[in-house]
Amino acid sequence: MTGTDVTARGTRRAGHPARPPEEHWEERVQRAAHPLAYPAIRSARHRPVVRVPRVGVVVSDAAVAREVLLDLEHFSKVGPGAPSDLWTPVLGPSVLLNMEGAEHAALRRTLGPLFSPRAVRRLVAGDDAAAAGDGVLPRLTRRLAAGETVDLAAAVTEQAGAVICGMVGLPPTDDAVRSAMTAARTITGMVRLHRHGLTRSQVRQARAVLERLTTPARAAYRAGDPATVPGRMRDLGLSEREAMGAVGAFVLTGTETIQSFVPRLVAVAHDTGWTGRLLGGDADLRRRAVEEGLRVTVPTPAMLRSVRAATTVAGVPVAAGDRVVIATVNCCRAAGGFDPDRPIDPAVRHLWFGAGPHFCLGMPLATAQVDAVLDALAAASADGRVPVVGRRGVERGVLVPAYRSLELRLGPAGSGPERAVA
Ligand code: HEM
Repeated sequence: MTGTDVTARGTRRAGHPARPPEEHWEERVQRAAHPLAYPAIRSARHRPVVRVPRVGVVVSDAAVAREVLLDLEHFSKVGPGAPSDLWTPVLGPSVLLNMEGAEHAALRRTLGPLFSPRAVRRLVAGDDAAAAGDGVLPRLTRRLAAGETVDLAAAVTEQAGAVICGMVGLPPTDDAVRSAMTAARTITGMVRLHRHGLTRSQVRQARAVLERLTTPARAAYRAGDPATVPGRMRDLGLSEREAMGAVGAFVLTGTETIQSFVPRLVAVAHDTGWTGRLLGGDADLRRRAVEEGLRVTVPTPAMLRSVRAATTVAGVPVAAGDRVVIATVNCCRAAGGFDPDRPIDPAVRHLWFGAGPHFCLGMPLATAQVDAVLDALAAASADGRVPVVGRRGVERGVLVPAYRSLELRLGPAGSGPERAVA
């Protein structure tokens, strides 16, 4: 074979393995978010564990990653280089992602009912206006079906913002949704992988932003209305401080991940010719495509741990106080490009949501939000037409890699990608 050979699974250059069709845009999304850290982390992918200067001990193998996440004797989310360095000054000392042990387990149990199927359905369905068909997703369906071009990134951002409003106890007016999303982004945008914490002025700014965001949550907590999440937290026995910490943690962990994932899933499906199957009526096929989308996009590309006591990680010695970076993006993508028909290696399955005691508490909410958007897109599809991706733009300098815009309009399944905006 000479020159370039375009195959069904991707583009093959002479002497190189086929490049998965989704990779071009996925790389652009990742590199725009982390122009330095992403190439550094990816360059570590060929070795299960390697020490990278200024970054930490990088783990790129799924089985080793699981061992670290489950070894609570030697690795912790509390300590130098761990998430506690980043979040404790902003959110306070007890907000799940900077806790360990019995207190952490107890708080998770207490918060569990907030993520029951019923509670999650209520949050995603939103307020009365949304339930009556005037929400962002019914609008998305109507506009697509009417032949308009829509920006999926904007719609998902609005949807994620409406869910935050539900969590803090605010009606999702345009202003409230916008300021909730800006608040979440302002805070997470301060985080850089090569820096272990935030500067003093960043902490001051983040606390001020969070204080504004949680003011209505505080009022909802004090009013004790069980129709609101803060009111339910009070019913569940959380102190006001714990409840406000949890609201802050939910906003920081659960907003950008969704905003990142859903447009990327739809883009990956488009680039691989899977849109029709993703939006068809086969629930099992959709579940597999969504899981595979999570595996190749890895919305939380890394997990941090601090070493509590000297040990080895796959033969590499680590000392107390070292930082371990689980390169989830390397662990998950090692299996290759997007292919929902390929069985998932059990070591990789759900690693995109973590493993062990800190496994994503919001997974049911995430799944419900993804499903709600896919349902809205499926409802617009008709006559064999599906949402086709048009122009795209990528977000720069954000913590969670994402599209800034992703245009969609109805078209025949399998229509090729169009002109890009950078
Ligand atoms: C596609 C979307 C999402 C992905 C890929 C994701 C991924 C993750 C991962 C990897 C962790 C574990 C981090 C670690 O061990 O260091 C985590 C934890 C967490 N996630 Fe998610 N997440 C998503 C959506 C959400 C949503 C919607 C919420 C809603 C509030 C949420 C709430 C949380 C919380 C509270 C934790 C901390 C749990 C603990 O420390 O005990 N996540 N998530």
